[in-house]
Amino acid sequence: MTTKPSDAPWADEPFHLIKTPSTYLTDSHSYVHTASEMAHSHNVIIRGLNAIIQQAPYVAISTDKNYIAQDVKDLLFYVHSWAKMMNHHHFTEESSIFPEIEKFSGKPGLMEGPKQQHEVFHGGVEKLLEYSSTTKPEDYRWEGPNGMKAIIDSFSKDLTDHLYSEIDLFLGFKDLDNDGLRKSWDKGETVAKQNGNLAMLYDVFPCVLGCADKTYEVGHTFPPLPWVVPYVIQYWFAAGNGAWRFNPCDWWGRPRPLTFGPQSGN
Ligand SMILES: [Fe+2]
Repeated sequence: MTTKPSDAPWADEPFHLIKTPSTYLTDSHSYVHTASEMAHSHNVIIRGLNAIIQQAPYVAISTDKNYIAQDVKDLLFYVHSWAKMMNHHHFTEESSIFPEIEKFSGKPGLMEGPKQQHEVFHGGVEKLLEYSSTTKPEDYRWEGPNGMKAIIDSFSKDLTDHLYSEIDLFLGFKDLDNDGLRKSWDKGETVAKQNGNLAMLYDVFPCVLGCADKTYEVGHTFPPLPWVVPYVIQYWFAAGNGAWRFNPCDWWGRPRPLTFGPQSGN
């Protein structure tokens, strides 16, 4: 079940969220854990994408009477952070998690499918990263052939199809060795954490926290972090940055109404 803060459109559409495997599978094999952890990450990416698609149409552009340059600047920063977050997820998979799984299973090429899917939408994501980091607020457009919507539309279906199908792939790992799968997953995660850097606390991290709905379904603890982290993000790394208005949840993973929408007066 999705917890929506109101009847207004929220970050659970247009692209539907993934049902977390641990909520419907009772098997104690580690494929349920790995598929569920992956589903949490993918739902974070999907909520972020939906939050952009739902709110961007209501951010005034420079030809509008109610144009506020800072709103556009914040939107572009948010989009850039989201795209970076997504790239980081796929980089982590390709550089640590996938090789670990292929190595332990003794099946080279096992993760070839998702790697090829990454290639399909990679170009679109790069374009979005460039647009969101180089466009001046007065030149920004949502609609039109040169607008941001066209870039997002060019890869969003391929991206979400991939995010859904990768969970199915992980659900097929019940035939792999239970301990081996868990160990290779944990090892991949450790390497991924080491790949993180301080700069990410200013963009990728606040995006993850603000897109992780901890009330989703039965309630989830993803991402598992010390209690102090949301406070540090709020009062230090994210302080004074209006981009986080676009997050669909607060720093504690509680869903909140979207800032920009038909009722926002923007
Ligand atoms: Fe993934």
